[in-house]
Amino acid sequence: MKYDTTLFHTVSFLVLLFKSSIAVDSLASNQTLLDNNTSLVSPNGNFVLGFFSPQNSSNRYIGIWFNKVTIQTVVWVANKNHPISDSSGALSVTTAGNIIITSNQSSIIWSANSTSRNPVLRLLDDGNLALDEGSSGRYSWQSFDYPCDTLIPGMRLGWDLRSDQERYITSWKSVDDPSPGEYTYRMNPNGLPSIILRQGSTIVYRSGPWDGVRFGGGPALHGNAVFTPILVYNSTYVYYSFENSDDSVVSRFVVSETGALTHFRWSEPSNNWIEIAILRADTCDDYDKCGSFGVCEFGRAPICDCLTGFIPRLAEEWAQFDWAGGCSRRTPLNCSTGAGFRRFSRVKVPDTSASFVDENARNEEECEAACLRDCSCVAYARTEATGCVVWSGELLDIRVYEEGGQELFVKMPLSELGSKKSNRVTVIVSVMAAAIVVVLTLVIWLVIRKRVAKKKAALAEQQHDFPKQNENASIGDEDVALPMIDFLTISIATNEFSFSNKIGEGGFGPVYKGVLSNGKEIAVKRLSQDSGQGLHEFKNEVILIAKLQHRNLVRLLGCCIHQNERMLVYEYMPNKSLELFIFDQAKDTSLEWRTRYDIIVGIARGLVYLHRDSRLRIIHRDLKASNILLDSEMNPKISDFGLARMLGADQYQENTKRVMGTYGYMAPEYAVDGFFSVKSDVFSFGVLVLEIVSGKKNRGFYHPDHDLNLLGHAWKLWTEGNPGDFVDTSILNKESLAVVRCIQVGLLCVQQRPEDRPTMSNVVVMLDSEHPILDQPKQPGFYTQRTLFDTDSSSTGKIPNTSNEITVTLLHAR
Ligand SMILES: *[C@@H]1O[C@H](CO)[C@@H](O)[C@H](O)[C@H]1NC(C)=O
Ligand SMILES: *[C@@H]1O[C@H](CO)[C@@H](O)[C@H](O)[C@H]1NC(C)=O
Ligand SMILES: *[C@@H]1O[C@H](CO)[C@@H](O)[C@H](O)[C@H]1NC(C)=O
Ligand SMILES: *[C@@H]1O[C@H](CO)[C@@H](O)[C@H](O)[C@H]1NC(C)=O
Ligand SMILES: *[C@@H]1O[C@H](CO)[C@@H](O)[C@H](O)[C@H]1NC(C)=O
Ligand SMILES: *[C@@H]1O[C@H](CO)[C@@H](O)[C@H](O)[C@H]1NC(C)=O
Ligand SMILES: *[C@@H]1O[C@H](CO)[C@@H](O)[C@H](O)[C@H]1NC(C)=O
Ligand SMILES: *[C@@H]1O[C@H](CO)[C@@H](O)[C@H](O)[C@H]1NC(C)=O
Repeated sequence: MKYDTTLFHTVSFLVLLFKSSIAVDSLASNQTLLDNNTSLVSPNGNFVLGFFSPQNSSNRYIGIWFNKVTIQTVVWVANKNHPISDSSGALSVTTAGNIIITSNQSSIIWSANSTSRNPVLRLLDDGNLALDEGSSGRYSWQSFDYPCDTLIPGMRLGWDLRSDQERYITSWKSVDDPSPGEYTYRMNPNGLPSIILRQGSTIVYRSGPWDGVRFGGGPALHGNAVFTPILVYNSTYVYYSFENSDDSVVSRFVVSETGALTHFRWSEPSNNWIEIAILRADTCDDYDKCGSFGVCEFGRAPICDCLTGFIPRLAEEWAQFDWAGGCSRRTPLNCSTGAGFRRFSRVKVPDTSASFVDENARNEEECEAACLRDCSCVAYARTEATGCVVWSGELLDIRVYEEGGQELFVKMPLSELGSKKSNRVTVIVSVMAAAIVVVLTLVIWLVIRKRVAKKKAALAEQQHDFPKQNENASIGDEDVALPMIDFLTISIATNEFSFSNKIGEGGFGPVYKGVLSNGKEIAVKRLSQDSGQGLHEFKNEVILIAKLQHRNLVRLLGCCIHQNERMLVYEYMPNKSLELFIFDQAKDTSLEWRTRYDIIVGIARGLVYLHRDSRLRIIHRDLKASNILLDSEMNPKISDFGLARMLGADQYQENTKRVMGTYGYMAPEYAVDGFFSVKSDVFSFGVLVLEIVSGKKNRGFYHPDHDLNLLGHAWKLWTEGNPGDFVDTSILNKESLAVVRCIQVGLLCVQQRPEDRPTMSNVVVMLDSEHPILDQPKQPGFYTQRTLFDTDSSSTGKIPNTSNEITVTLLHAR
């Protein structure tokens, strides 16, 4: 019950009233049928119109709420500005076609006027209160035209351009006052449509433009099992709407009185509203966080940077995390000397108010040409759904997503690009330079190779990003018996790598499902050739996994090398990854506590094997929910050893300059100093445990009451003695010993100091025994990650201000 108090308009005990009240079908002219004791139910029984009082208020309002949802949730209010203080209110329809709410028998406190001749008021199946206009089938008035704070299927947020009529949602003033509050969420029809949240008149969030599937390309509104977003954008209409995926789903989109934008689904088993999508998920969603030509990347330190080729306008302020000044070009554009474009991927494209859609440009080349021709054009983006969008002026509110997003092409002077478009002399010079580099590299490589032959061990010391095979630890035979599978077999099994066989996208390339001729199902990881890391990662993974055999590690069946291509063939996991189960709210309910517990224990056992029992002391370095695969019996299997490293038997930690991993799971000493050890895996494991217990992602975790991340939230509830509040709403026995023990173990694993964290063997003992003796967890590392990067509170962060010096290679592997 974490969010109820602020997000739900709950009215207590009113449900009881229905039993004694009279339900009516519709109201014909001059009838006064809706009063304190009556209500109107839609024919399908899904919605009710009646009087209600919000939470702590005695005021009476006429509103519409879900009939079958046990927490009364109001979606529409008629007299939101004119409450009735007693029970004298009544709703009637006059012969003149007006709907009126009266109090004290006579005084009209609210009215909706129409020109209907023979008006009949009905509450329709979709929750729309509509005044029939005779037999024409049109409505002369309908509540869907006057939204409050909630969108339900059938309602539209946007514009009818013919009549210039706009529909938008406005937050309630407070949970007990439905009159308009500070926040409005409105469609901006200028340029490419986007939806904008304002607090008063200040823009605080922008959805990003529609990319054909969702707004902004952001991950929040990914196609999901609950609802399908819809955007209509033509000369008549610009509006957003959504459909539930089937009739049994009850979902709603709400702007809360605190400005949260959330899509909820009603969960019958847990008897509560569950968040499907949270639109303002992190600080990078704050509008214009990094100023013009700045780009925000959540998880980077500092979060703001200038676009490549741009420099801070006010360097001093910028260094002190004051981004408002934004960035400007290092080399100014000069229209007469030519320009090219630099591509930025996975971005939320800039504010589109300063953009326009070029309908003549039908493809990428024409779009580029259009932007080149126009001296004022500074960037363009193109998708099938949106066509060619070009920007002029300053680019505002750009962010980078971990996944999803769109491509943005920013105009750059040729000198900044050093591109193929530069003149011939430059090309020749670069070719010569490249040739020299190649020759030099070759020479150096030969020299190094000679040395290697002499002093193999000495070289191994310096090679930081390739698995080091310590003499003691090596299994002896270099040629591990690994079946090579030929390319043709794989190609046939995967239907020639057809799109329909693609089951995922790993950090180093796509993953396909295949069926061998003997019926065995396989998963094929096809390493992308341009990934750069491909070869290292490939060798790494092959050498490592071929030697590893454990029921909680994914099994490598073979590999394939075909021309420049490299492929890894694994056993196929029908249930895909844990991520789909714990964060996908639609499937959420199917993962009961027992299963979650077994998964936690399974992962722990797999890690004990990696850290200790395999004789190789392997650090995984990229443990996260999407790297835990599930077999048909929901047994967890750790996968993706692309970043794994081997340590010698006597070695406990190592240091690396290339910090790679996934934000949200990285231990502080690793992210900040590059130190990794078995204890940095323990940290990631702890994050995973807390995610499994809470059903929430550490990254992007948002709580209306505080700025802590998921770890901080868990710790706060733990120290306050309410661990049960942290648990996923679909878990029934929230206070059971096992649940609380898992939270405690999770918190022990994410402690700030590596030496305070237990080893994985300890963790297995703690999880297995009935009454283990557990320490009280100390404060977790990175528990205020969100505020750390925030300008206002950077001084309160746990990590000193040197954090802007961290160089982090964020390598996202799913
Ligand atoms: C409805 O009420 C008005 C006055 O309130 C009256 O003039 C009218 O005749 C009534 N119409 C019907 C159909 O009863
Ligand atoms: C009106 O309805 C409310 C139920 O919310 C009830 O408490 C109140 O007594 C009713 N008033 C009258 C006069 O029946
Ligand atoms: C509602 O019903 C109660 C008794 O059940 C009655 O006392 C009250 O007058 C009714 N209220 C109205 C407005 O009809
Ligand atoms: C309603 O009142 C109760 C008791 O006075 C209080 O505990 C609760 O916080 C209030 N709820 C809201 C939303 O104001
Ligand atoms: C209804 O009448 C009572 C007394 O007759 C008065 O106190 C109250 O303010 C009136 N309510 C409205 C909404 O006019
Ligand atoms: C509706 O008409 C009534 C008179 O019949 C008028 O008092 C009221 O202001 C009108 N309401 C609106 C919203 O136009
Ligand atoms: C705009 O889209 C709506 C909804 O899809 C459709 O009914 C309407 O005909 C379209 N109008 C134009 C001019 O294409
Ligand atoms: C652009 O380049 C041309 C030719 O090099 C030069 O004459 C002109 O001054 C430049 N314009 C600006 C604004 O720098």
